[in-house]
Amino acid sequence: MSSHMEVLISREQIAEAVARLGQEITRDFAGESVILLGVLKGACLFLSDLARQIELDATFDFIAVRSYGTRKESAGEVQLIKDVTTPLEDKNVILVEDILDTGLTFTFLRKLLLARKPRMLKLAALLDKPSRRELPVEADYVGFKIPDRFVVGYGLDYAERFRNLPDICVLTENAGK
Ligand code: IMP
Ligand code: MG
Repeated sequence: MSSHMEVLISREQIAEAVARLGQEITRDFAGESVILLGVLKGACLFLSDLARQIELDATFDFIAVRSYGTRKESAGEVQLIKDVTTPLEDKNVILVEDILDTGLTFTFLRKLLLARKPRMLKLAALLDKPSRRELPVEADYVGFKIPDRFVVGYGLDYAERFRNLPDICVLTENAGK
C-alpha cells in the first residue's frame, strides 16, 4: 500500500500550518469564546490538533454530512447525517473542514448554520483545492492550497480508508487494490 502513496504534505508541515492557524484564530477571537464545529469524519484529526493550538475558551461540537459516498467524485448533493447538539445563537462558530473542494459542502452547511443565527461563522479548512471550485466560497483560515489531486491521510479518506495516515498523501491508481 505504501508504495502507491506519495507524500504531498508531511506531518511536520501539517503541524507547522496547524500551529499558524491556531495563532491566527487565537488572535482574531481574543477575549471571546469559540465553538469548534468539526465536520465528520474527515476533520477529526485536524480539529483535535488545531484545538490544542487555540488559546481561547473553546467547546467542541460535530456535524456529519455525506457528499462523496465511496467514490472520488462529488455526488453533487449534500445530505445532513448528524446535526449539532449545542445552540449556536449568538456564538462564535468556527467550522472545521478537512478540505474545501467544489464548495458544495460548505455552501450547504453555511446556509444551515447561518439559520441558527451565530454571532460569527468562519471556516477553517486544512486544505483548499481552488481549481475545483463550483460555487463561489472561500475559507477564512487555510492550511495549504493544493493542486487538483486526490489526497488521503490525516483524516481524509478514500472509501473510508487511509484516514489514519500521519502525512497527507496522493493516492495513485493502484493504491488500495
Ligand atoms: P466539497 O463539497 O466538494 O467542497 O467537498 C468537501 C468534501 O469532499 C471534503 O470534506 C472531503 O470529504 C471530500 N474531498 C474532497 N476532495 C478530497 C480529496 O482529495 N480526498 C479525500 N476527500 C476529498
Ligand atoms: Mg470525506
